[in-house]
Amino acid sequence: TLHDGQIQASLVEVTPSKDPKTPPPPSTLVFGHTFTDHMLSIPWRADSGWGTPKIQPYAPLPLSPSATVFHYAHCLFEGLKAYREPSGKVTLFRPDMNMKRMNTSAERVAMPTFNGDAVIELMKQLIRLDKHWIPEEPGYSLYIRPTMIGTQPALGIAPPKEALLFVICSPVGPYYPQGFKPVALYGTTEYTRASHGGIGAYKLGANYAAGVAAQKAAALQGYVQNLWLHGPQHHITEVGTMNAFVAFKRDNGVTELVTPPLDGIILPGVTRDSVLALARDHAAGVLKIPELTDKLVVSERPVTMIEVKAAAQLGELVEFFGVGTAAVVSPVDRIGYLGEDLHIPTGPDGMGPLSRPLWKYLTGIQTGAIVHPWSVDV
Ligand code: COI
Repeated sequence: TLHDGQIQASLVEVTPSKDPKTPPPPSTLVFGHTFTDHMLSIPWRADSGWGTPKIQPYAPLPLSPSATVFHYAHCLFEGLKAYREPSGKVTLFRPDMNMKRMNTSAERVAMPTFNGDAVIELMKQLIRLDKHWIPEEPGYSLYIRPTMIGTQPALGIAPPKEALLFVICSPVGPYYPQGFKPVALYGTTEYTRASHGGIGAYKLGANYAAGVAAQKAAALQGYVQNLWLHGPQHHITEVGTMNAFVAFKRDNGVTELVTPPLDGIILPGVTRDSVLALARDHAAGVLKIPELTDKLVVSERPVTMIEVKAAAQLGELVEFFGVGTAAVVSPVDRIGYLGEDLHIPTGPDGMGPLSRPLWKYLTGIQTGAIVHPWSVDV
């Protein structure tokens, strides 16, 4: 079909930068503000498919002001991280998941699909070239941002006949400016992040543009991030740009770990999937996550703010946290809901009895301290 196309990684043309920069000290990094020396780009045309991949110096893109990305939001992206071990070994975390999702996003906005393996191979080449940009400090990594935009200069609403897939890299530390601390959320009921049949389950730029006003409103009320509450029953859907997890005390010393199901209005997060898989393996006894002492049941089910509020009042709320690639695990200590503040338990270090061991185990895999097939050599 028009959209099927194979990217040929072996044809890549590499132009090293003549003016490489010195990476700044990691402690000065603001999330997503610093970029490495190189980028990857692969053009696509409907008549000829994917063109020659290029790794070249990071630079502005030449685009027509009529390019469809500027008018109709033909823009989709991914986020994944590369880690550098003390030995110098560099790894990526589950890049296949990002490539799969990127193709799903592309289909949703009638943009070209591609063979993810080739882009993984090309990203590895890019990362190897900029390897010295990956901070080694715990909690730091290289955030990789694959992006696809519609570049055809045309104002008619149609699938763009020209597109560009590019990848840029940014050395990062904590996602939130206040560091790795619990955050206060503002329960958003006046805006909707997603609707059934809409685009909320896809990683499209348009989702994020529509979310910024809600985030700004939360900030004006003195909260760090907003909590998306969907529909008349205030279903918990996402925490800003992260998936949401809630833990409840159940009978017989059991803790229920809950996240909303992928029912069409939830972004299928890679960290979400990873936390679910680890927690389920632990619950089933096939994996022993150190320090995770609670007896667990793991549920993908709808959960409302009314349920969370009732549990908080009964002392049955164990914890509440967001998960995403950027922040990994982000505990919550307070939720503003209909004019009241709900206090959420957190441990002395800000994390809880589930989030702490899960975060430790997950970051152990990501940084190579725990050997696991999710971590892929670069
Ligand atoms: C996440 O990793 O949580 C994201 O959604 C990426 C964010 C920078 C938009």
